[in-house]
Amino acid sequence: MTDDSPHPYSGPRRVLSGVQPSGALHLGNYLGALVKFTRLQHEMDTFIFVADLHAITAWQDPAKLAGQTREIAAAYLASGLDPETATIFPQSMVPEHAELGWIFNCVARLGWLDRMTQFKEKSGKHKERASVGLYTYPVLQAADILVYKATHVPVGEDQRQHLELTRDIAAKFNHDFGAPGFFPLPDALTEGPGARVMSLRDGQAKMSKSDPSDLSRINLLDDADAISQKIRKARTDPEPLPDDPEALKARPEAANLVGIYAALGGRSSAEVLAEFAGQGFGAFKPKLAELAVETLGPVTERMRRYMADPAEIDRILTAGAQRARAIAAVTVAETKRRVGFVGA
Ligand code: TYM
Repeated sequence: MTDDSPHPYSGPRRVLSGVQPSGALHLGNYLGALVKFTRLQHEMDTFIFVADLHAITAWQDPAKLAGQTREIAAAYLASGLDPETATIFPQSMVPEHAELGWIFNCVARLGWLDRMTQFKEKSGKHKERASVGLYTYPVLQAADILVYKATHVPVGEDQRQHLELTRDIAAKFNHDFGAPGFFPLPDALTEGPGARVMSLRDGQAKMSKSDPSDLSRINLLDDADAISQKIRKARTDPEPLPDDPEALKARPEAANLVGIYAALGGRSSAEVLAEFAGQGFGAFKPKLAELAVETLGPVTERMRRYMADPAEIDRILTAGAQRARAIAAVTVAETKRRVGFVGA
């Protein structure tokens, strides 16, 4: 995807992404998002936040929310984000997200939101009981991104549709307010084998915080025994591994385990198959468990160490929010001027 509008954005390249503090972080979040954040912070100005405003679109226990927020921040730091290099903050500490979100609620069209598949999945059979926030959730996501005029958004595959909506909102705002090139049309960065990690129990369902079975996912706080046990119990098929990735297309569970191995080792599925072709899962699973423990073990340990010092996390988050606000406030002021608000 590129910006093919007649007046493409010419501002600096910036990265923005976030994770909701709504449950335990898992391997999908790590491979689909956190690993990419860490890499990109050295390439572009990077903003990574904890999406606590998004989390409350479903009920969150107020006694737990701050702890969950710090846990995500700890995971960011443990996976290698450097708070001096990247700006790390909680969404709720930067009120400009919500302010721009409101303006975007008036730009986005109902028809666009009606197409969002995540709302359909998350609201389930009783959509009239879902919060209004859950429905307008992708609009706030567009504000998260565009309040920093971010150009690159590293996310898992499941966020692609929200990024397309963000581009539609940016383009419509630029058009409606006579501001060509004002907001960038950001690109979703979803490449790589970790972009869609599937459940260990069902190769057709994505690995998810909300799956009732803990065996379906590897949590970032799982210890070595739990990781090995979950991989041992992962659903597979009786066939040996093929030498061609194409042959994995009809074998979702096998494709998932090979994809996880590839993502953990920073390789492609084809390279993994070149090593393991002809072997069965009896041989492959212990190797996968070994690699997972070796890669995730140090992350878990660092995460626990950060979590033991909440005051330090709060210091980092507060400093990050101050830096973030300085940029967000400029965008909101410019936006309000374009809209025509008095005094803007
Ligand atoms: P969330 O909290 O559901 O997930 C955080 C990130 O993890 C990715 N992810 C996965 N990647 C690969 N395989 C999986 N099984 C898997 N499950 C989750 C997600 O794609 C995401 O990148 N709406 C976002 C949070 C958000 C946001 C934003 C992201 C709010 N505003 C602005 C980017 C930019 C969400 O709920 O992610």
